[in-house]
Amino acid sequence: MSAQLGFSDVRYSALNRIPRNTRLCGILAALCFFLTLSLIHIQFPLQRSSTNQDEKVLPHVAAVDCGRRSKELDAKRKITGKSWIVVTTINQPTDAMDLLCNLDGWNVVVVADTKSPKEWTCGSCVYLSVEDQQCLSYDIVEVIPYKAYTRKNIGYLWAIQHGATKVFDTDDDNLPTGSDIIFESPTEGVVGYRHDNTTGKSVNIYSHFGRPDIWPRGFPLEEIDIRRPVSYMTEYTSIPEEAKDVLAPPMMIQQGLADLDPDVDAIFRLTQGQELKHAKFCKKSPSIRLSPGTFCPFNSQNTLFSYDAFWGLVLPISVSFRVCDIWRGYWVQRLLWDVNGSLGFTKPTVDQIRNAHNYLDDYMDELQIYEQSSKFIDFLSSWNSTSTHLETRIIDLMEGMAENKFIGLEDVDLAKRWVKDLQNVGYIFPKVSYYDPQAFEASLYLYEEPRVRAQKSHQLSSDALKQCQLEADVDPPMSRIQITNGLESDPSDRFKDILLVVNFNHPDYKALEPFLSIYKPYFPNIKVYGPQVPTDLRDQVIEVEPYDGGFTSSYRALADAMERFPNYSGYLYTNDDTALNVFQLAKFDQDKVWKQVPDHTYDIRDRAKPPPSDWHWLKQESTAMWNDTTSLTEEQRKRISAFTKVDGPADIRSYCDAVYVPARISVELTDVLKRFAKHSVFLEMAVGLALVAVEPPENWLSWQEMYLWIGGGREYWRNYLTSGVSMLHPVKLTSDPKARNYVVNWIENVQVV
Ligand SMILES: *[C@@H]1O[C@H](CO)[C@@H](O)[C@H](O)[C@H]1NC(C)=O
Ligand SMILES: *[C@@H]1O[C@H](CO)[C@@H](O)[C@H](O)[C@H]1NC(C)=O
Ligand SMILES: *[C@@H]1O[C@H](CO)[C@@H](O)[C@H](O)[C@H]1NC(C)=O
Ligand SMILES: *[C@@H]1O[C@H](CO)[C@@H](O)[C@H](O)[C@H]1NC(C)=O
Ligand SMILES: *[C@@H]1O[C@H](CO)[C@@H](O)[C@H](O)[C@H]1NC(C)=O
Repeated sequence: MSAQLGFSDVRYSALNRIPRNTRLCGILAALCFFLTLSLIHIQFPLQRSSTNQDEKVLPHVAAVDCGRRSKELDAKRKITGKSWIVVTTINQPTDAMDLLCNLDGWNVVVVADTKSPKEWTCGSCVYLSVEDQQCLSYDIVEVIPYKAYTRKNIGYLWAIQHGATKVFDTDDDNLPTGSDIIFESPTEGVVGYRHDNTTGKSVNIYSHFGRPDIWPRGFPLEEIDIRRPVSYMTEYTSIPEEAKDVLAPPMMIQQGLADLDPDVDAIFRLTQGQELKHAKFCKKSPSIRLSPGTFCPFNSQNTLFSYDAFWGLVLPISVSFRVCDIWRGYWVQRLLWDVNGSLGFTKPTVDQIRNAHNYLDDYMDELQIYEQSSKFIDFLSSWNSTSTHLETRIIDLMEGMAENKFIGLEDVDLAKRWVKDLQNVGYIFPKVSYYDPQAFEASLYLYEEPRVRAQKSHQLSSDALKQCQLEADVDPPMSRIQITNGLESDPSDRFKDILLVVNFNHPDYKALEPFLSIYKPYFPNIKVYGPQVPTDLRDQVIEVEPYDGGFTSSYRALADAMERFPNYSGYLYTNDDTALNVFQLAKFDQDKVWKQVPDHTYDIRDRAKPPPSDWHWLKQESTAMWNDTTSLTEEQRKRISAFTKVDGPADIRSYCDAVYVPARISVELTDVLKRFAKHSVFLEMAVGLALVAVEPPENWLSWQEMYLWIGGGREYWRNYLTSGVSMLHPVKLTSDPKARNYVVNWIENVQVV
């Protein structure tokens, strides 16, 4: 079971390497006396650390005679094993403890505090009394405060020293619902990552399990958006082997969810606490692991650590009770990326029967989370260090965190002691294999299209959620399960009232299928136009007559669509060989014309003058149009003059392979275009001029158009699918079989406005 996740049982057992000095207390009682003395000088954290373990005050811990205790401790040391549960408590054994202590194959170490009962027995649990703890030779013992949850740190070391290859981190109020605590198999996994890190780096994992309306404690307040809680996820099983390792490294830490009373922040409890009554997550949702670069808070209540993640168990002492596990969870996520590991989340495996809390106290205790978690995540995302060993990277990171006031200096000291203690108990740190953000990004592009993967994954998770919804009759909490779109934003929603008009300039329809497959997911309404339509495509393509290679047929198609389908709120025109930056367009104002404002005007009143450029070869048609007084109304001529600054006929040169027209001006524009068509004005004179005639360019949204034939880039269009341009032309979808994937990847990954 434990070998499943790349942390293997054959690892050299820590138990065999217990250094002799762990028995120092037993041998040198005098040293322990000094140890005890030094306890009295402990610096307690400034922040209040209120817990079920009360206010922290300097305890009156009497000097312990470790020599006398050594026999008792030696007996406890005889209990060894690979699977350890670590708990700290001030209560008599709870029901949950009863269950944990009797879990087959697991050892339990319970770390006592000053308020804990003197006598505490439960199954074969190892109960480390305060006196026991003082006789341990761990360097951290000297600096761990009393009346503090962080006493657990001592238990982690104990477990590691006594043979642990996995540690289950939990509390005495979490009742496991299964008969074992296991790492979920990686094949079931999906990975979650933020598709667009400009809007945040966190995912709300609760939404993956059907409750997007709540969020885990520690989640940055700025990123709470119950409409799009999981930004992006992709089906793990469909990713090729070589990409899997990059997108989803082996799971080293697994956070199981908790039913009944899940871990949320005090803001949630104070404002919507009633929503939590008997809350349940969907147990059918597949387990999910986070890719490097993406964060989600995790706690210390139902959390399984593999051997390679033991270094990340240490809870910081300079922050409050309700911050310490969340803060640990965040910095550990950053370092997991550097040891080829990931954090995973699985369905609920415990029922949380929460000890009573005062929510306002909790709120005060959580202030640092509210204030800093987003900044902390930003800091961690950009953090790096030149250290090549994890041991030193941990210290580097702690120093950086202290410098930036996320933790106090006492935690830098703690980390140094922790690393030393780990080395002393024989822990072998995993090797550093740097997370490389560029390789990660590249692997997103290389294989199956992110959108296809996202859709599969969304299918996978929504199928699971639907099954849970069906259980509402027998399990009422399931009526709260919601299915959310897993995508960052769904452009199809923005385009639902828009008609996409696609024109084929030539009767070559090989690009029809790839074109439609690219744009159908985004555009619910598409009309295709083209010349000489073959019989078998008549139901898909509206015929444009006559075939003139796009000379005028393109804008006649647009005019026809605006006239024939008048009920849309806007018309987005494109050629079949133009790529559209869909996510960017989804953000644009749909009441504006989208077109790059033309920058070339030619005064054509004096026909004796030579044409201003070769390009002007089409002057005849436009002159005929200008000669015809019915072509433009007085008002339209005035608008053109205002733009061209020419008091008379003036051509406007403007390419037109894509344009957006709001319905507000579609009737007038259709009219002008039809009058232009009568004189066969060339497309690249007609559309810009017609638009200027009906809508002053200062009102346009002048998007960025890119034309590759200008710089000779035509052959290399792939190189240009990288920036924030709105439309790119020409992009020949039929030129190679992979062209379609390139365009889709561009659309999915370039979302810059
Ligand atoms: C993510 O953020 C980094 C900088 O923090 C930036 O260089 C990168 O392009 C971003 N990636 C995406 C997909 O937005
Ligand atoms: C990460 O772990 C996987 C699975 O053990 C392995 O195949 C891969 O090579 C590792 N990657 C690195 C960068 O070490
Ligand atoms: C951190 O630095 C290492 C070594 O210079 C580099 O390989 C790695 O890509 C960097 N990681 C990040 C996240 O910048
Ligand atoms: C417009 O009308 C067509 C039928 O002509 C219909 O199929 C389509 O749904 C309508 N669109 C809108 C936005 O109302
Ligand atoms: C436009 O009108 C002028 C002046 O009447 C005439 O000389 C010219 O031939 C006309 N051109 C076209 C193309 O109709």
